[in-house]
Formats: sequence, C-alpha cells, structure tokens
Amino acid sequence: MNDDFPKTAFIGGGNMAQAILGGLRAQGVPASSFVVVEPSDQARERLLQTCGQEAQPAPDERLAACELVVWAVKPQVFEQAAAAARNWVAQAVQLSIMAGVRCQALQQATGAPRIVRAMPNTPALIGRGIAGLYAVPAVDAGARAQAAAVLAPTGSLVWVSQESDLDAVTALSGSGPAYMFLVIEAMVQAGAEMGLPPAQARQLAQETMAGAAALAMQSSEEPATLRERVTSRGGTTHAALTVMEEAGVKPALVRAMHAACTRARELGGG
Ligand SMILES: NC(=O)c1ccc[n+]([C@@H]2O[C@H](COP(=O)([O-])OP(=O)(O)OC[C@H]3O[C@@H](n4cnc5c(N)ncnc54)[C@H](OP(=O)(O)O)[C@@H]3O)[C@@H](O)[C@H]2O)c1
Repeated sequence: MNDDFPKTAFIGGGNMAQAILGGLRAQGVPASSFVVVEPSDQARERLLQTCGQEAQPAPDERLAACELVVWAVKPQVFEQAAAAARNWVAQAVQLSIMAGVRCQALQQATGAPRIVRAMPNTPALIGRGIAGLYAVPAVDAGARAQAAAVLAPTGSLVWVSQESDLDAVTALSGSGPAYMFLVIEAMVQAGAEMGLPPAQARQLAQETMAGAAALAMQSSEEPATLRERVTSRGGTTHAALTVMEEAGVKPALVRAMHAACTRARELGGG
C-alpha cells in the first residue's frame, strides 16, 4: 500500500473507524492520507495512541480534498453529522458502514450522488469480518475498488447487486455472530453440566466452531454432506441431531433470519 491510496475522510472515529484505520496504517498507508472527524476527546486520543492518527473535532474545508468519505457514526447521529459536513463532501464517493441508512437518505443528507453502502459484522474489529457491499450505478469500477481497498482490513467483502440484498446480508452475517455465540453458549453449558471445567468447555466449543467453519470453507462439498459424513447411524452425533430435529432447531434458525431481515427492512424505512 502506498502513496496513491485515495485521500479518505472518516466521519466518526470510534471502534469501527479505529479497526479500519489501524489496519490501513499497518499496511503502510500514511496518516496524511486521512482526515478524521471525531468530537470525543477520548476517542481522538485513542486514535492517536493506537493508530498514530490525528483527528479533528469538527468538519472543515480539509474534507473537500477527500475522494472518499467513510460514514462511521451511529445511524442516529448521521443526519446531524451530515448537515455539518455537507458543504465539503458532495464531490466524494460516500462509503457508509452504518446499519439501516438507505442510499437515498445518504444522497439527500450529503448531496453526493455516488454512494457505496457496506454492512460489516463485529469480527471486522479483529480483521475477520465479512461485509456485504452495494454501490449505486453512478459509482464506477475504480471507485468500487477504492471502497473495497478501504474496507480490506476488516476481512472479506461480497458485492451484492441490489440494495435490498443488504437486508439479507444483515440477517445472515451482520447479526450472524450472535447466532454463533448462542451455539457456543449452549455447548459450554452442556460441557459444564457434563463435568468439564467451563474454561475447557469454552475452548472446545470455540475451536470446534472455528474448525468446522474452516473445513466447510476448504471443502467443495455441501455443508449437508459434511454433516452426514460425521453422522453414523446409531452413533453419538446421530443421537444429538435427532434431538435437534425433534426440537425444530433448523427451521427455527431459518425463521429467525427471516425475522432479522424483516426488522432490517423496517429499520431502513420499509
Ligand atoms: N462495531 C461493529 O462491529 C459494527 C458492525 C456493523 C456496523 N457497524 C456500524 O458502524 C458504525 C460505527 O460503529 P462503531 O461501533 O464504530 O460506533 P462508535 O464506537 O460509537 O463510533 C462512533 C463515533 O462517532 C462519534 N460521533 C458522534 N457524533 C459525531 C459527529 N457528529 N461527527 C463525527 N463523529 C461523531 C462518536 O463519538 P461519541 O462517542 O462522543 O458520541 C463515536 O466515537 C455504526 O453506524 C454501526 O451501525 C458497526
């Protein structure tokens, strides 16, 4: 990474911005490539300590030099933050990582036609996330590549072809870590009930989840085939999966994700 990295603004210098900036700085992108607006003294100090990145408390004309503007504030403060920055950002590509703020709302509030929306998840904070991205047609391939380069430190990226697909991404990978944590919780509880020390049960559960995911990613087989391969009739896995089937675990998970998708649509304004 290098000097031709696009000059990029971050509006909001909290956890996500820090994770992204920390990754980009570690790749060798100079601090001079960034303009960061962050009103909190504490958050500015943290950025300086962790990323060697100066930030300013309020937007000003320095934003006008930026090709990309990353919106990393909570959705509730977006309108107010956009009103303060609007004079200097309309020429740039806007890259929003805020949940539920639609392209149309981003265009209206910033005055910019070129919008990219990303839906990351919390493992982004340790560089192991996966984000869905959507760009409006006005964003060309070069600008898409710039947006992808900015988000690269968060993990994997998947482009979707219509904005409404981001609601499905929200339901799958956005909220997904919580589903995985629930499974880990249940495995740890059962492990402890069966007599394992909780710390050991937790290690066994976590590494099982990470290992199963890694195996699924490396394999060309369907997940169902991988599952069947470890399920011999009359064996222990079969005993467990029979209980899960009787309890309707799989259909409940599918219903849960539909509920998350519906909620994402409602929060985005329909
Ligand atoms: N964390 C995740 O894993 C994750 C995953 C998916 C999506 N997201 C999205 O990413 C966005 C940022 O999340 P986060 O976890 O980084 O939140 P965060 O840690 O709260 O960071 C937001 C920062 O923006 C600052 N801020 C508030 N008003 C501002 C303004 N007018 N101008 C500039 N900065 C302002 C906040 O300062 P104060 O604290 O002083 O208010 C805070 O430091 C959210 O929209 C969230 O939905 C996050």
